[in-house]
Amino acid sequence: EKGTYPHYMLKEIDEQPAVMRKIIQNYQDENGELEIDSDIVTAMNDADRIYIIAAGTSYHAGLVGKQFIERMAQIPVEVHISSEFGYNMPLLSKKPLFIFISQSGETADSRQVLVQVKEMGHKSLTITNVPGSTLSREADHTMLLYAGPEIAVASTKAYTAQLAVLAILAEVTAKSRAMEVPFNLVQELGIVANAMEVLRDSKEDFEMIAHEYLSTTRNCFFIGRGIDFYVGLEGALKLKEISYIQAEGFAGGELKHGTIALIEEGTPVIALATQKFVNLSIRGNVKEVVARGANPCIISMDGLNMEDDRFVIPEVHELLTPLISVVPVQLISYYAALHRDCDVDKPRNLAKSVTVE
Ligand code: F6R
Repeated sequence: EKGTYPHYMLKEIDEQPAVMRKIIQNYQDENGELEIDSDIVTAMNDADRIYIIAAGTSYHAGLVGKQFIERMAQIPVEVHISSEFGYNMPLLSKKPLFIFISQSGETADSRQVLVQVKEMGHKSLTITNVPGSTLSREADHTMLLYAGPEIAVASTKAYTAQLAVLAILAEVTAKSRAMEVPFNLVQELGIVANAMEVLRDSKEDFEMIAHEYLSTTRNCFFIGRGIDFYVGLEGALKLKEISYIQAEGFAGGELKHGTIALIEEGTPVIALATQKFVNLSIRGNVKEVVARGANPCIISMDGLNMEDDRFVIPEVHELLTPLISVVPVQLISYYAALHRDCDVDKPRNLAKSVTVE
């Protein structure tokens, strides 16, 4: 039940810190160490390449998950949109492991791929919020999200839960291979949960941003570099699905190769700047769009912030920033939809789970 909340989406955004803590709890052993099913660790270690298959928001989580797995466990990962995989199947490695990311566990396009790769004799793991869902029953292994039911059509807490579970999968695998991991993940996810609480208490800022930048605009762009680019893709999807504003996410460096032509006087450009090694280059991209009349909204991270940044998120480990930087874009999208009188929880033309191909 949504209780005192006007919409499920807002309630689910607010639940994110609690979901983080629940995930930590569920994946901890009696000594407080992160633990996952040993068969899953074996499947990861047996694989020479991982293929992540997903759709929509879950696909965007997969893009970040690839970074976690490659950087921590050093296993090569490819991420594919499930609806394209069947027609456009890549040359598979000798010992692939397929990871299906699906909040509902019912997405038909993803199931189609699972059926196909099972027939080929390949191993599979489903990461889902719904125990007993089709993708969970049919895959060899399952990891649960523990996010609680997600009712709003726009996915929010499932995305951050997917990222947390993918990070746990990457870290536990890395440790099993005696690799050095960049942090104590239990501790870092605790920091993430606290940072999410700070953002939850900053709703007025996001409402103001939505009002200022998005109440009348026809379009909006998100830019970022590195993992910020992937969060930009998710921000654009959130904004378009619930507010019907045409929104696109671009890699900062790709702008000049064509898309900068779309910038007009007043076009909102939301720039994410949470990555130290590209901080100056993304700010260079902001200057380029401002020179063409764009209305910039920079969301940066404590420690990397500069004058005129519109919002500064609390500092978390640079690999885990998507867990935090997505919250402002979720809230900005929510308030943009409210300002524009859209049906936040049940946007037009959309269904919560897409069970047709
Ligand atoms: C966006 C959204 C969709 C889903 C997609 C996959 O907010 O909810 O893009 O992410 O339909 O759904 P699952 O994760 O259930 O396979």
